[in-house]
Amino acid sequence: MLLDVSQIPKVALERMNKVHEEEIKLLNQLFESIDKGKEIEEIDDLFKAFVEDVKKHFSSEQEMMEQFNFFAYPMHRGEHDMILGQLANLEKNWEKNKNPKLIKAYIENEFLPWLMNHIQTMDTVTAHFLSHFVRD
Ligand SMILES: [Fe+2]
Ligand SMILES: [Fe+2]
Repeated sequence: MLLDVSQIPKVALERMNKVHEEEIKLLNQLFESIDKGKEIEEIDDLFKAFVEDVKKHFSSEQEMMEQFNFFAYPMHRGEHDMILGQLANLEKNWEKNKNPKLIKAYIENEFLPWLMNHIQTMDTVTAHFLSHFVRD
């Protein structure tokens, strides 16, 4: 397992915590299928599901930030966009080379450390702000 869901930092909005938990579950499945040397088709399905989940995760936060005029929206969105750019590059590379090691290295060295930091900073401040307006 890459990360136990209990280790995900908690923010002030339960709906955001749920999204983070589901994402880590998908990430664990993808990570394990690579670790166990599963078929490329299985890894392909799990990788695509993960990328779709990240897109939904980010857009759900962005919709709330826009709706309630969150003061640091451009900064928060900037971090999301940077990751979406990295994932688009990884997807292109995957389509060409189908090398599971690259996905594994990206998850371990880039995505997971980034996500933990992002939840503790951007998401924490955002959730605190939104918790004054959004009923969970
Ligand atoms: Fe988030
Ligand atoms: Fe975020």
